[in-house]
Amino acid sequence: MDRIVFATGNQGKMREIREILGDLGMEVCSMKEAGISIDIEENGQTYEENAMIKARAVAAQVQALVLADDSGLEVDYLGGEPGIYSARYLGEDTSYRIKNADLIKRLEGVPDEKRTARFVCAIGAVLPDGRELTTRAAIEGRIGYEERGAGGFGYDPIFYVPEMGKSTAELTEEEKNLVSHRGKALRLMKEELRKYENIDRK
Ligand code: IMP
Repeated sequence: MDRIVFATGNQGKMREIREILGDLGMEVCSMKEAGISIDIEENGQTYEENAMIKARAVAAQVQALVLADDSGLEVDYLGGEPGIYSARYLGEDTSYRIKNADLIKRLEGVPDEKRTARFVCAIGAVLPDGRELTTRAAIEGRIGYEERGAGGFGYDPIFYVPEMGKSTAELTEEEKNLVSHRGKALRLMKEELRKYENIDRK
């Protein structure tokens, strides 16, 4: 086996994934590059379930090691909202300017210590022999009072990381990969995969 297919169409994610998994010595390609175009309904109740739904759907189409991710933002003051519904919050096509403004409004008057939040990411894997693996990681932070920074995507401008003194939209791509939920979950998955024979070709 010498190929990893990652179940995403997002080019930004593919860049990050290639960088992190590069030293496994395997070709890493997107669903599209593998010639797969399917609509997958993410109807799981957890990040892990959604990641596995995507990974299994792609694994049914291709003979390769298939990985998929699912992630979201959990705001403690809002009982963990938007969570697994982060992409669909206020509607899939609603701009993040509006989604971010809405979350800030819902936290109006809430003091710093109650604005805690985290980005969570689960990675799911289906190995060519059918075995399945999942990993999960998070980055802790707080919801800011206004949008800050022009990098990243989604909720990054309102996700403030106190230790870094910046929002995740103010981090460079490299800085974000080092500390992000997705970066950490991917590196955990890489360590899991190394335990399986014939996966690490180096
Ligand atoms: P998915 O895992 O691609 O379905 O992402 C779910 C949603 O969570 C995204 O559409 C974003 O709204 C949010 N999200 C996940 N990771 C990040 C991140 O690193 N920055 C900002 N928003 C994120």
